[in-house]
Parts: sequence; C-alpha cells; structure tokens
Amino acid sequence: MSAVPVRPPAPSRRRHALVGLGSRREFYQDGIEVTHAAAAELVAVCDVNPGRIELAQARAAARGVAVPRGYLAAEFPRLLAETRPDVVIVTTPDAAHAGYVVAALEAGCEVITEKPMTTDADACRRILEACRRTGRHCRVAFNYRYSPARTQVKDLLLRGTVGEVLSVDFHWLLNTHHGADYFRRWHARKDTSGGLFVHKATHHFDLVNWWLGAVPVAVSAAGSRRFYTPETARRLGLGGPHERCLTCPVAARCPFRLDLAADPRLRALYLGNEAHDGYLRDRCVFREDIDIEDTMSAAVSYDSGALLTYSLNAYNAWEGYQVAFNGTAGRIEHTLVETVYREGREAAPTPDGPEVRTRVIPLRGAAEELTPWRADGDHGGGDRLMLEEILAPGAVADPYLRRADERAGAASILVGVAANRSLATGARVRLADLVGDLPRPEYPVAAPGAA
Ligand SMILES: NC(=O)c1ccc[n+]([C@@H]2O[C@H](COP(=O)([O-])OP(=O)(O)OC[C@H]3O[C@@H](n4cnc5c(N)ncnc54)[C@H](O)[C@@H]3O)[C@@H](O)[C@H]2O)c1
Repeated sequence: MSAVPVRPPAPSRRRHALVGLGSRREFYQDGIEVTHAAAAELVAVCDVNPGRIELAQARAAARGVAVPRGYLAAEFPRLLAETRPDVVIVTTPDAAHAGYVVAALEAGCEVITEKPMTTDADACRRILEACRRTGRHCRVAFNYRYSPARTQVKDLLLRGTVGEVLSVDFHWLLNTHHGADYFRRWHARKDTSGGLFVHKATHHFDLVNWWLGAVPVAVSAAGSRRFYTPETARRLGLGGPHERCLTCPVAARCPFRLDLAADPRLRALYLGNEAHDGYLRDRCVFREDIDIEDTMSAAVSYDSGALLTYSLNAYNAWEGYQVAFNGTAGRIEHTLVETVYREGREAAPTPDGPEVRTRVIPLRGAAEELTPWRADGDHGGGDRLMLEEILAPGAVADPYLRRADERAGAASILVGVAANRSLATGARVRLADLVGDLPRPEYPVAAPGAA
C-alpha cells in the first residue's frame, strides 16, 4: 500500500480500538496516530462497511504507522479477544453506541463514546447498569465543555458572580448549511439519532447541567418539522422533494445541494462505499420520510429550583447561541457566533458582530464586558483540549471537571428523551419516570483559586 517503513509501536503506549469509521473517526485516528502518537496506538478498527475499514487502514499505512486490524461489526467480540485494546472509542451512529459500550465495559476496557451517549431510556439504563456491574465509568466526549469561552462562563458561575441562578434562557441556532446536514441521512430518523432534541441538544443540555451544577428533573416540550419539508421544496421552485442530490434533476439550481462527487473526502468516505451498505450521504433534505423536528422548544426544571427555557431551530440566518443566566445578584449574557463548517464547501463566513461576547450585568450598576477566554481549533477550541485529555490522560489538569462520564451522559440525553415523550403525549415528563435511580453527575463545587 505504501513504501513508507512501519515504525514498531512503543510498548508503553495505550492500545485503542475505534468502532464506527465515518467522519468523526478521522479526528480520533489522527489524534492517536499523529498528535498523541507517543502515548497512544490504534490496534483495531471496526465498522459495518468493509470499504471504510480499508480507508481507515490506508490512512495509517500512508503515514507509516502500524496498520490496525480490521473487523466487521459482527466480529466485535473477536476484536476484543484478539487485539485486547485498553480503550474502545465508539463513533457509530447514535443508536448503535450502547451495544458497543456495554460489550467493551464487560471486557474490562476503558470506554469512550461520542455524544449522545445513547438515544432512549432503555439503552441508557443498560449502560448505567453495565457501569454499576463492572465498577467502571463510560466516558462521554462532551467537547463543548472544553471550549475556553464556555469554561469561562462556568468559572463565573462557580465564583457566584450573579448569586444564585434562578433561570436560564438558552437559544441555539443552526444555519441552513449545518442545519440541513442533519436532514440528509441517519440523523433524520428518530430511531437512529433520537432527533435533534437528543442528537444535537445533548451538548446543550449537558452544558446547562454542568454550568448550573444541577440535575434536571422534568421537561415539557413543543416541536415540529416546518422548514425541511416537501412544501419548502415546492416553494423554492424545485418541484417537490427528490431522492438524492447525485441523481436530482434540479440539483444545479437547488441551494441545498451536496455534491459528493466534487469533494474528494466525501467521495472516498461515502460515495465510493455505497455499494457495501446503501448508505446515501446526500439524500434530499425535503423528503417525506424524515421524522425529526427542525423547530423545537423546551421548558426544563432543575433540582436546584432553576428553570431553563430552551430553543433549537435548524434553519437560521446565522449559527451559534445566546445564553443568559438570571441570578439573585445580576445576569450573565454569553453569545457565540460560530464560523460553521459546510460539508463539501468552504466554511461559512461569520456574520458581522463579535464572535464571542460575555458580559456580567449586576442588578444595580454598569455592565462589565469580559475578554473572552480563547483557544484555536474546531468546536471553539474544545476538540483539541478534549483530545489531549482523552489520549494523554493526566497530562491536562481538569479543575472544572470537564471530563464527563455516563452520569452526565444520562442526565443530558434524558432531557431530550423526556422532550420527545412530551412532544408525543403533550405531558410534562419527569426524568425519574424514565430511569428510576439516576446517579448524580460529578460537578466542581468551587472555582479554582476562589476564596
Ligand atoms: N462531538 C462532536 O462534536 C461530534 C461531531 C460529529 C459527530 N459526532 C458523533 O460521532 C458519531 C459518528 O458520527 P459521524 O458524523 O462520524 O457519522 P458517519 O455516518 O460519518 O459515520 C458513522 C460510521 O459508523 C458506521 N456504522 C453504522 N452502523 C454501525 C454499527 N452498527 N456498527 C459499527 N459501525 C457502524 C458507518 O458505516 C460509518 O462508517 C455520532 O454519534 C455523532 O453524534 C460528534
């Protein structure tokens, strides 16, 4: 495959296996094989799609590191037995996480799963029980916590800057590049992703849980699909939804076209491997069979007494969020406008205005504008910091307890699961009715250096 000589692995490196070899896998594979190669090695890769197994192996070969052994999904028990990984990282579609998490915990591995930890209450219970049974934790990769600007908000709250927080207003905006991407493939079905209330909002609910250091108790929600619909396709003059961009008769004039053939990465990862599993990466975002919402709001109450008012919409003019904490001594406002990726195209430009803004407004007196904490890289700099902590454990201090496990994973997805149930029934749903003995996540109790 390559003439580059293979370096023998150093014996002290931790052995990693990666399950689910799509887009997110590249982040971990590159972290293991390049950035943190002194501490980590990739010994096995696993997927339902043999073409993506070969791609992951070719990536290793091309950079001259040992090629990981490849296994199909059904062979996962054999992967565990033969390659004996220290760490299993799960990056499959969301509903498939739980099976791998439980099997890897049972095999004595350290387990890291991508968010959301899982998509429904039954699978959540299975993971919590496996953790109790094995005495191990399952780490959930909440990279959003690691963004320095969000850690700064945590720091302000830990210091009691605005007193006791009584309510939170949190509004998350996805633009029509990033937002549309959730309507093309597996994310567009609740049975594989839990819908955006679980798949996407797990990040947001986790942030609020961690920011407040509190546990969500009950949720009522509303939501529907209003934009990514056959009617919108007709309104745009596209004659209604079509099957996929590759064969679409109006692709040339559709503002939502994803051109898989034109992007070498997408072509290799998805288009070139369709024959194995029929996974179409560019399905029409307006098609009939989508069953997730694009317009959502929720009211969440916490054990601290705080109330969260939350919204998530997937078709906005800009991307980012606005969050405000209303406390007994004032208000913290934090706004972030993201420079957003667009699959198959260059990053979308950031609109006018400050990229990150954080200010504290006391009940009496002038507002204070803060200089935002910053880091470079994807997801507000969070990805790089989280990866460092995952692949070189102990190398990074964690005074804000950004490292999250199954307790935080459960506390965040169950807000989304409860919201989905509330959508279906019209009722307010208590988390305790979904999973009886929800363990309390670990939260820091004081800001580092605070008196
Ligand atoms: N934290 C973040 O910011 C972030 C960003 C992107 C993705 N993610 C998460 O990463 C995960 C993967 O997302 P992605 O964008 O890489 O998706 P993807 O569709 O690109 O890749 C998923 C891969 O899993 C494989 N797969 C499907 N079913 C499987 C099964 N049962 N067993 C083994 N492999 C299976 C597919 O063939 C594919 O290769 C998701 O859980 C997603 O939420 C997180």
